[in-house]
Amino acid sequence: MNEDNVIEVESLTKRFGKFTAVDAVSFAVRRGEIFGFLGPNGAGKSTTIRMLCGLLGSSAGTARVGGFDINREPEQVRQQLGYMSQRFSLYKDLTATENLTFFGGMYGLDGAPLKERAAAVVALTGLGGVEKQLAGTLSGALQQRLALACAILHEPAILFLDEPTSGVDPIARRMFWALIHDLSGRGVTVLVTTHFMDEAEFCSRIGFINAGRLIALDSPAALKRGAVAEELFEADPRTLHGAADKAAAIEGVAACAYFGTRLHLFCRPGAFTEETLAAALAAHGVVVREVKRVAPTLEDVFVRLAQKKD
Ligand SMILES: Nc1ncnc2c1ncn2[C@@H]1O[C@H](COP(=O)(O)OP(=O)(O)O)[C@@H](O)[C@H]1O
Ligand SMILES: [Mg+2]
Repeated sequence: MNEDNVIEVESLTKRFGKFTAVDAVSFAVRRGEIFGFLGPNGAGKSTTIRMLCGLLGSSAGTARVGGFDINREPEQVRQQLGYMSQRFSLYKDLTATENLTFFGGMYGLDGAPLKERAAAVVALTGLGGVEKQLAGTLSGALQQRLALACAILHEPAILFLDEPTSGVDPIARRMFWALIHDLSGRGVTVLVTTHFMDEAEFCSRIGFINAGRLIALDSPAALKRGAVAEELFEADPRTLHGAADKAAAIEGVAACAYFGTRLHLFCRPGAFTEETLAAALAAHGVVVREVKRVAPTLEDVFVRLAQKKD
C-alpha cells in the first residue's frame, strides 16, 4: 500500500442477488484529502461507503481503510473511522449529551476522557447551549452538527459523510463545510457524498459513479476541462417547452439539457459554430435569442456523465 493512501479500493463489487449495485470500483484517497463522491440516486454511493466502513462485506474485490482490510478486519476498520449515515442516525428521544455518551460508549470512551472529548466536539461544532435538548427537537442544522459531533468523538483519522448536508439551509451548509475543511487541515481524511455542485467544488478530487461504475475521477478543475468530450453551447430559446427534445434530435447534437431557462447543447467537436447551431435549431422549430459557446460547469459534467450508459 502506498504510504500516503489512507483508503485504497480495488475492484470493489457488491451484488444483491443478480443486481450489481457496485461494479468493480477502484480508487485511492490520500491522507487529509477531501474526496467527493458524486452520482445520481441509486448509483451505488451509499453501498460503497457501507462496505468501506466495514458494515457490509464485498461480493468481490477489496479495500484497505487505514491499513486494514474491510472484509478480514472490519472491527479495526470501524475503530478508526467516523461515519455519518445518509439519515443521521441520532436517537431523537435522547438529549444531545446523551447521544454523545451513547456513541462514545460504542467506541469504548467513558469517564473523564469521554467528558473531555464531548466538550471538545460540542465546542468545535457549536453545540454549546443545546446539550440538554432532545435531539429530535433540534433544528435540521443542529441535528446535522450533532451527528458530526458523534462521528468525530473518538478522533477518527477517516471520516465518511453520506449526504451530510441534504435538508440543511445554505448558511448551515457553509458552516458545515468550514468544519470539514478544519478537520481536513488537521489531517483527517474525508470522503463525502453530495448533490450540491458548490460543495463538489470544495473537494480536492471527485469520483463520479453511475450505475455502480466509477466513470470519472479527477479534480473539479480537470473534470470541467476534460470529462466532457463534446463542445458545449448555451442557447436562449423563446419557448422552453419541448425545446430540449427537438434540439437533441439535431444531427451533431450529442445531448441537450435544460440549464435554468436556457438549453445546454453538447455538440460533436467542430460540428457547429454559434451561427450554424442557431440556424439548425431554428430549422428544428427551436427559435433562440442567442447561442454562445460556454465552458462546462461541474453541473454540466455531472448531467452529461449521468446520461452516459457506459
Ligand atoms: N440491501 C439491499 N438490497 C438490495 N438492493 C439494494 C440494497 N441496498 C442498496 N440496494 C440497491 O443498490 C443500488 C445502489 O444503492 P445506493 O448505494 O443506496 O445508491 P446511492 O447512495 O448512490 O443513491 C440501488 O439500486 C439500491 O436500490
Ligand atoms: Mg445514498
